[in-house]
Amino acid sequence: MTRRRLFVTTALPYANGPFHIGHIMEYIQADIWVRFQRMQDHVVHFIGADDAHGAPIMLAAEKAGKSPEVFIAEVARGRKQYLDGFHIEFDNWHSTHSKENTELSQDFYRRLKAKGLVYPKTIEQFYDPVKGMFLADRYIKGECPNCGAKDQYGDACENCSSVYSPIKLKNPYSTLSGAKPVLKASEHYFFKLSDPECKKFLREWINKPGRLQSQVANKAKEWLEGKDEKTLADWDISRDAPYFGIRIPDIKEEKYLYVWLDAPIGYFASLKNYCDRKSVEFDDFVKPDRGTEMIHFIGKDIIYFHTLFWPAMLHFSGLYKTPDQVNVHGFIGVSGEKMSKSRGTGIDPLRYLKLGMNPEWLRYYIAAKLNAGVEDIDFNPDDFVARVNSDLIGKYVNIGSRIAPFLSKYFNNRMPGIPMVDFRGRGIPAHTGLAVAITHSGAIQSAFQEREFGKAARLIMEVADTINGDIDDFEPWSLAKDASTNAASREKLEHICASSIAGFKALTLFLKPILPALATDAEKYLRCGTLKWQDLVLPFSAEKFLSSGHEFGEFKPLMTRVDPKQVTALIEGNEDTRQVNTPTTTPAVATESGTITIDDFNKINLRVAKIVNAQHVEGADKLLKLTLDLGSGTMTVFAGIRTVYDPEKLKGRLTVAVANLAPRKMKFGVSEGMVLAASGDGPGIYLLSPDSGAQPGMRVK
Ligand code: 2FM
Ligand code: ZN
Repeated sequence: MTRRRLFVTTALPYANGPFHIGHIMEYIQADIWVRFQRMQDHVVHFIGADDAHGAPIMLAAEKAGKSPEVFIAEVARGRKQYLDGFHIEFDNWHSTHSKENTELSQDFYRRLKAKGLVYPKTIEQFYDPVKGMFLADRYIKGECPNCGAKDQYGDACENCSSVYSPIKLKNPYSTLSGAKPVLKASEHYFFKLSDPECKKFLREWINKPGRLQSQVANKAKEWLEGKDEKTLADWDISRDAPYFGIRIPDIKEEKYLYVWLDAPIGYFASLKNYCDRKSVEFDDFVKPDRGTEMIHFIGKDIIYFHTLFWPAMLHFSGLYKTPDQVNVHGFIGVSGEKMSKSRGTGIDPLRYLKLGMNPEWLRYYIAAKLNAGVEDIDFNPDDFVARVNSDLIGKYVNIGSRIAPFLSKYFNNRMPGIPMVDFRGRGIPAHTGLAVAITHSGAIQSAFQEREFGKAARLIMEVADTINGDIDDFEPWSLAKDASTNAASREKLEHICASSIAGFKALTLFLKPILPALATDAEKYLRCGTLKWQDLVLPFSAEKFLSSGHEFGEFKPLMTRVDPKQVTALIEGNEDTRQVNTPTTTPAVATESGTITIDDFNKINLRVAKIVNAQHVEGADKLLKLTLDLGSGTMTVFAGIRTVYDPEKLKGRLTVAVANLAPRKMKFGVSEGMVLAASGDGPGIYLLSPDSGAQPGMRVK
């Protein structure tokens, strides 16, 4: 078998917050596929990085009172606990805000320009005169030009669904400062995607069999041929200062490359950073005709960038190969609630780990739900408990737990000395378990290769069912009773133990890409070294797979059952974090006696908050705009305390905030929470302070 050489990536997450379950799902999907490739001895470089640039990150950093560099570095430091926690083994994690990415991106720009594919054009855009910056559509609101609904975004009305240009909004205002935006001209740089050569190339690229899933190829074709609102037009790849990004080279003005130009180049930057450190030949993985493959895993929301812009950039650079596969997945929802990129979903991955839940339960559950399509998947708490407990504990682990004691007690903890290939020939009732493992191995291997992980899990569990069925039929506990005096019983006992433990070894191999830690523990018991797919290739030699007389290790419980209470805590605890959906709960209501229950009180997520910034609000003589650090992130709150507090004196002090108040749109911006203050009948408002030692983010209860 030839060894494939693969460069595999997952979408680079924005460096503006912690990972949510959608990120973790994608990483688990790619990690399973990568581990499967490694088990076949293919060479894989599995690469990730933070997508650190763009206006939203620049503004988020400002809101947090930090420089963008400090802000993204803090986010980056938080990554490891998730990746290690869920056994996701990237070879490298880097950042688009890096030396490598600056050099590569500027080089891409120069090459595309030299090809005549980049041209300047002056355009008029809304500009915030207070903030001193051009405004992307999402930072402009106003009244819908069609139905008059207030507070509609710059590109579409949520009330009547009409789509328009922000210039058409009535009474527009900047969501950043509240100011009325003005139209201002500026020179931008465009990538000429409409060039006939470019369209011709993309048509061929999209249609190459095996490169894109059919739904994805169809979508890309619609955009390319102009049947969708996203129809391919020349692409504005520049942004004016202020912007957090990579400077456009060779011009005097301070202009930057649009974040979506430098983001995919970040794949290369991270690979380059890795190759330079490991003395691997970078060019082999990015240049054409080197026999290497470039494979991206992405979500369905960023198909446009990965099937049009990115291949065009690569091809017309004149230097690089284009992706061999772009594997697109759907979103993950929780109990039917839709995933939202900015809010995450109702499961916080860090909370999952902190509750002590086994990361491999989630890896298995996600694998069992995934296929090679782009459909969304749903995390259902009851289904999660049932699936993990029934499949992993009830089927797979159970085989080891059932057979290991017999091996230890009756066979000196060694593989019985019976060849396993001729059960039938010896006229002994057939053991189908191991045979099924061997005959299924090809289909399981193909399912992993095709990213049909759900199918792989089903086939693996069929094997486990058959082995358990054999054990039920043979009743080793009955055979053991007279095995020392009855040769036939002894022989049957040898057969069922040998077949079952060999089947258990095959199952361990099959499950290893999904459950790497569990498989490592099972390998220790089996004393079989590191399992590889080649161990099972046909013609199968049972004696080689598990030779008679082989001594086993100590069998320890391999995995505990999921306790439904943990899952309840996982879901119910979600009010604790701001990056998840607020479930539809009824508001806390006082009972007739005027009291509330502890559950009602617990609905209020009170947190110690550090005031990192405080400022006056133009036109509001009672309000201060506060930026609060809640440990896990920041929030903006407008508080009616201007008459009693000097903003300068508030900076740095701790107070208590309600972290799960529904955001409220105010004339001056959105207030995302509330700080607690005391007041009486007379004048005076007194902000609450925790005792010394309290840290931002601590729960108040
Ligand atoms: O949509 C996103 O989250 C982007 N940060 C993905 C970038 S993928 C690649 F192009 F870097
Ligand atoms: Zn409208």
